Amino acid sequence: MSREMAQEIDSGGESAFNPALRVLPIPGIRRMVNLASTMDDVIHLSIGQPDFPTPPHIVEAHIQALRDGHTGYTMDAGLPELVTELVAYYSERYGRQLKEDNFLVTTGATEALYLALSATAAPGREFLIPEPTFPLYAPLVRMNGGEVKSIETSADRGYQLDPQEVIDAIGMSTYAIVLNSPNNPTGVVYPRETVEAIVQEAAYRGVKVISDEVYDHLVLDDIEYPSIISCAADIDQTMVVSSFSKTFSMPGMRIGWIIASEAAIKTLRRYHMFTTTVANTPGQWAGVAALTGGRGFLDEMIAEYRRRRDKVVQLVGDAPHLTGYWPQGAFYILPSLPANADGSSVALRMLEETGVCTVPGETFGESTTNTFRISFSTSLEKIEEAFSRMIPWLEKQQF
Ligand SMILES: Cc1ncc(COP(=O)(O)O)c(C=O)c1O
Repeated sequence: MSREMAQEIDSGGESAFNPALRVLPIPGIRRMVNLASTMDDVIHLSIGQPDFPTPPHIVEAHIQALRDGHTGYTMDAGLPELVTELVAYYSERYGRQLKEDNFLVTTGATEALYLALSATAAPGREFLIPEPTFPLYAPLVRMNGGEVKSIETSADRGYQLDPQEVIDAIGMSTYAIVLNSPNNPTGVVYPRETVEAIVQEAAYRGVKVISDEVYDHLVLDDIEYPSIISCAADIDQTMVVSSFSKTFSMPGMRIGWIIASEAAIKTLRRYHMFTTTVANTPGQWAGVAALTGGRGFLDEMIAEYRRRRDKVVQLVGDAPHLTGYWPQGAFYILPSLPANADGSSVALRMLEETGVCTVPGETFGESTTNTFRISFSTSLEKIEEAFSRMIPWLEKQQF
């Protein structure tokens, strides 16, 4: 046993906690960010949050809420004014009439996912999760005794999900399918045919679909965004999770929500009272301003992400040893190195030797260890500067 391990146990480290915590992975980004913090002149292509300032009308609404004394708890399901706006917004956007009782406001999408997954995962229940995957889902399932079956998607198909593979993977113990489109880390957007095929078959077989739609507005091509809300025949078998974090550039305000059947929301509300009770009150007023403030900000932000995406795809194409594809949403691309390459050690050395920080692909699953994630949530100038360091460096690498 190493001295560090012995010290950790002595000081009430891992062994003092619920063994369920052992399934929590060490975030792959941590090592990179720790190292980057000791270096000068680092360019971060590792950022998972928008680099745009929060629109001023949203900031003002937050401050005004504080001034108006909105500092107490709200209703447990959410600030009624916000829930009313969410109902109007979603009903109009997806052409399906929802009710107040279909919503629960949470502390970001993170709490929404925590509630949705840990309230349903249990021994004997299997969750199908496409890989590469946002790293939150599988540990939440496993911590609660559930099992995960990964559905691998591949770089050569642009990480598109084959609905038939998902359907074929449904077995006797399958409880739910977890979808995330636009996707972190790949930026893939599933087309309507894919989402409809999965949702229809899942409903037919009594399997739930939990859909993480936090990047729903960040669709960078002129294509329709098929939310589960518009694809499902009814929402009894589905839970949609989203938030203001990415699309309205306000991740620190921590406001998200779950949309589900009235019965499911009733149960989740009870659980929510035992997790965070209510979401941040001034943040919820800021959310009202976000939903009622017009699309101007969104359109500008999407146009800028589109410009950056176009540039990044071109630069990935110019970079030796990297193979890209066309990400249609969010602000990520997961380019591949040759199959035998160790993406983590490449990303680490690239940081040490060029000062460009990315996120190793192993963070997102075992099938993408030869990749690293690039986020284009940074300026075009920084992106160009990063590649002007990476390209000559990659030229010297051998795989
Ligand atoms: C796919 C995905 N889901 C959920 C979240 C969490 O979002 P929130 O800030 O609303 O908790 C993130 C944040 O990175 C994400 O990328």
